[in-house]
Amino acid sequence: MSTHVAIIGAGLSGLALALSLHQQRIPCTIYEARSAPLNIGGAIMLSPNALRILDTLGVYNRIRPEAYSFDNLYFRSPADTPLDTYEFGNAAKYGYSGMRIYRHVLIRELSAMVSEAGIPIHYHKKFSRVITETESNITWEFEDGTTSTATCLVGADGIHSKVRKYLYPDLEPKFMNAMAVTAAVPTSQLAIPEGYNIPVTIMNKTHGAFVIAPQLRDGSEVLIGRQKRSAQLDREGWTKLMNDKDWCVEFLREGADEFPEIVQRAVSNISAEKINLWPFYMVPKLEKWSSEHCRVVILGDAAHAIPPSAGQGINQAFEDVFTYALVLARCEGQKGGLERGLKVWQRGRQERVDRVLALNAQIDKRRMPKAVTAGEEKEEEEEEKGFELGWLYKPDFEAMVEEWLAWE
Ligand SMILES: Cc1cc2nc3c(=O)[nH]c(=O)nc-3n(C[C@H](O)[C@H](O)[C@H](O)COP(=O)(O)OP(=O)(O)OC[C@H]3O[C@@H](n4cnc5c(N)ncnc54)[C@H](O)[C@@H]3O)c2cc1C
Ligand SMILES: *[C@@H]1O[C@H](CO)[C@@H](O)[C@H](O)[C@H]1NC(C)=O
Ligand SMILES: *[C@@H]1O[C@H](CO)[C@@H](O)[C@H](O)[C@H]1NC(C)=O
Ligand SMILES: *[C@@H]1O[C@H](CO)[C@@H](O)[C@H](O)[C@H]1NC(C)=O
Repeated sequence: MSTHVAIIGAGLSGLALALSLHQQRIPCTIYEARSAPLNIGGAIMLSPNALRILDTLGVYNRIRPEAYSFDNLYFRSPADTPLDTYEFGNAAKYGYSGMRIYRHVLIRELSAMVSEAGIPIHYHKKFSRVITETESNITWEFEDGTTSTATCLVGADGIHSKVRKYLYPDLEPKFMNAMAVTAAVPTSQLAIPEGYNIPVTIMNKTHGAFVIAPQLRDGSEVLIGRQKRSAQLDREGWTKLMNDKDWCVEFLREGADEFPEIVQRAVSNISAEKINLWPFYMVPKLEKWSSEHCRVVILGDAAHAIPPSAGQGINQAFEDVFTYALVLARCEGQKGGLERGLKVWQRGRQERVDRVLALNAQIDKRRMPKAVTAGEEKEEEEEEKGFELGWLYKPDFEAMVEEWLAWE
């Protein structure tokens, strides 16, 4: 049997993986549980590391005309004075500006390209369990009772991954005790003052951070959102809450009169159909992302869903799929090659994910309101330097994979 990869999930990871494998001339098939890829809604932020991959795959030029382009995320104090800036892109430094793009646009273009490449997508096919794994193939079952065999099975099935159950039967994603509610409103409603930089996060430890981020090519719409601590609910509970639009609007408005006026204007008129709710879960660090005979692999949110502070969730998923395709192309078919390849792939990927997690923690710390204490000057000096983000935004992924494969 020649190499054929079965991809479980037609989300952003699964679709980008199909295009990455196609570029490496590795045949694949996608299986998706739903009637269409899951569109959680809203816009997402893409940073230069992911944009470089999307450019290599030919996707970048197709989504760019519909994206809002920006370089910095701005942070303001509870009193609405500028606090600091976090770089999310820069064409001169990293090759690309940051981008905010509707998820459905990205899904639409990726799906179209998958179809143009002749890669089959089977909808209404829900993976249920692995039946057997041998040294050269994997056989699994769908919920409709049918079975299938391939040389590799990749779980790109998101944070509540079913494929992950084969590797970790008892593992559940961990709730981070926080959630966000977002909505979209016309930018004009905010009457943004001259010189007031967006995208912006207005910090307030009591009421939770408030985010304003433009979207659509011309920035005529903004996402508004608020992040707060929250008790855990089950999946039905979250769905019920998300569908309770009055509750969501109340969540966004709570204590708004104590926030700066721009926030009050932002929440003054919210239309129900543009509301979204995002409970923050993470997958604890996993020892292995692949099975004994390397026939099963998990990636994207299934392997390492990460908290949102550095905006890297999806961006890291794109790195997973692109480097996995490179490793597979180099190693599959060589005796013991894939086992070694996947080992260094996971080690290399985990190192980058760990750096992102450290960055998340650093950003969260920096966003705390400053206490006026002695020693503050030193801290300020450090902060002035800002983050050095070349390692994150400007990698050469082909060279990175070569380096991994050269590891002992
Ligand atoms: C409201 C919200 C806003 C977000 N905003 C951002 C953002 O701005 N930036 C960012 O980086 N991240 C953001 N995230 C996180 C981001 O959505 C995830 O990191 C990303 O979707 C992961 O992509 P994925 O393809 O790995 O998984 P998913 O997008 O979850 O896709 C998994 C796919 O697999 C399918 N599937 C699941 N189980 C099965 C099965 N058993 N058989 C077959 N198919 C199956 C699903 O239907 C789905 O289509 C946000 C998340 C939420 C909920
Ligand atoms: C799967 O692998 C086993 C063991 O290598 C082999 O006997 C079998 O023929 C393979 N099945 C398919 C469908 O290729
Ligand atoms: C949050 O905002 C309110 C209203 O502006 C303010 O009274 C309070 O001090 C802020 N809390 C923090 C921790 O900054
Ligand atoms: C609220 O917004 C909707 C849609 O943007 C608009 O049609 C409506 O006129 C607005 N209402 C008020 C009171 O501004």
